[in-house]
Amino acid sequence: MKKASKPEPFRIKMAEPIKLISKEERESALKRAGYNVFALKAEEVFIDLLTDSGTGAMSDNQWSGMMLGDESYAGSKNFLHLTDTCQEIFNYKYFIPTHQGRGAEKVLFPALINKPGQYVLSNMHFDTTKAHVELAHARAIDCVIEEAFDTASYHPFKGNVDIKKMERFIKEKGSENIAFIIITITCNSAGGQPVSMKNIKETSHLAKKYGIRVFLDAARFAENAYFIKTREEGYNNKTIKEIVQEMFSYADGFTMSAKKDAIVNIGGLIGIKDNEELYHQACSNLVPLEGFITYGGLAGRDMEAIARGLKEGIDFDYLEYRIAQVEYLGDILKDAGIPIQYPTGGHAVFVDAKKMLPHIPYYQFPAQVLTNELYLQSGVRAVEVGSLMLGRDPDTGEQLESDFEFLRLTIPRRVYTNNHMDYVAQGLIDVSKRSETLKGLEFVYEPKILRHFTARLKPVE
Ligand code: F0G
Repeated sequence: MKKASKPEPFRIKMAEPIKLISKEERESALKRAGYNVFALKAEEVFIDLLTDSGTGAMSDNQWSGMMLGDESYAGSKNFLHLTDTCQEIFNYKYFIPTHQGRGAEKVLFPALINKPGQYVLSNMHFDTTKAHVELAHARAIDCVIEEAFDTASYHPFKGNVDIKKMERFIKEKGSENIAFIIITITCNSAGGQPVSMKNIKETSHLAKKYGIRVFLDAARFAENAYFIKTREEGYNNKTIKEIVQEMFSYADGFTMSAKKDAIVNIGGLIGIKDNEELYHQACSNLVPLEGFITYGGLAGRDMEAIARGLKEGIDFDYLEYRIAQVEYLGDILKDAGIPIQYPTGGHAVFVDAKKMLPHIPYYQFPAQVLTNELYLQSGVRAVEVGSLMLGRDPDTGEQLESDFEFLRLTIPRRVYTNNHMDYVAQGLIDVSKRSETLKGLEFVYEPKILRHFTARLKPVE
């Protein structure tokens, strides 16, 4: 039985038509795209679940704020509104706007990594986060709990840091060789899984013990707070804002892609609790890379939309609807016997393609096969998070085997209804009925870095 979810706490004021092109058109589009959905035209897609990043629907309040854009180069009122709002929500001293999340990483990480060969520890790094760690000549190490890898079993906080594992690593390498710890909330790469307050606190204590700084990769901070409120003892009566403040109190700063929980189409942020020196270092990096400190690559109107979106993103009714919609899709799939990362994550349903297509080895990219087949079946665009995305060992050139082979059905915020979710689920259920007939993929063209965006593939003969 499907669980009826709460009605959307908004009315839809503007409609954007979408169209399902014919099966033959989808077949030729996918062939032209080299069996890589990144190369499809958006118009060839019926329901687009590629990402929840920058794809949300802004509110009337945000759109009207866009009209109040103060496009002064320095000290615009939108910047001041943004920093006031951030201070109120996160209780930090310094905030720096950036053009998006990776801009924040690019600016902050070199200020934290002070010698080559250092390590950065995380529950799991997102791919751009890992890339910026490596560009700053450090190495990214993941320490998520073992439970995250068992997709079928329930754990309320599968994004948690394995504290013992992390401490072992710090002892082995020496604390002076750890540049910083970054906790991804929610943990995207493990399936949009939350991190508990207890775990954030314990990670922070561990870091303090060794004199290491802790940062949050806060793209989905509000969804993480919602899970703490609804799943962790002692938080049910706290507001989302109170929970957010406690979460952030355990860290020294954060990087944030505002394109997720701040529900804007572009934007990012750096937050620094109180370290003035670090703030000045980040500002010096910001100016040549992103822009002056009061705009950081954004227009005034974009900063206004973030300021307003941050408040909407921590509204409990909104979050309840949001998380329930993702769970709604997860429940239909699970009830139909489709293996998913369980429980359903905050921003997406992660389908376990390793289990769905056991006959396709990791080096023939089972989750990409499933992504393509779902597009052919119903015009739905999902995304592969698996061995195709992971790539090769930079030293040996060998294809690495990802811990997960996920097809990610990523739900944009306030964009689709549960009728869309029903349709998406049915498409995947139909594909599952002929899963054993599906064939693996091989490269026609393989770029050296971040290959999944532009690779061209073909079905194995
Ligand atoms: N951190 C996390 C956890 C993310 O999920 C992302 C982006 C970033 C950092 C980088 O932010 O895109 O604004 O530069 N995730 C998107 C996704 C792209 O589809 O999951 P960005």
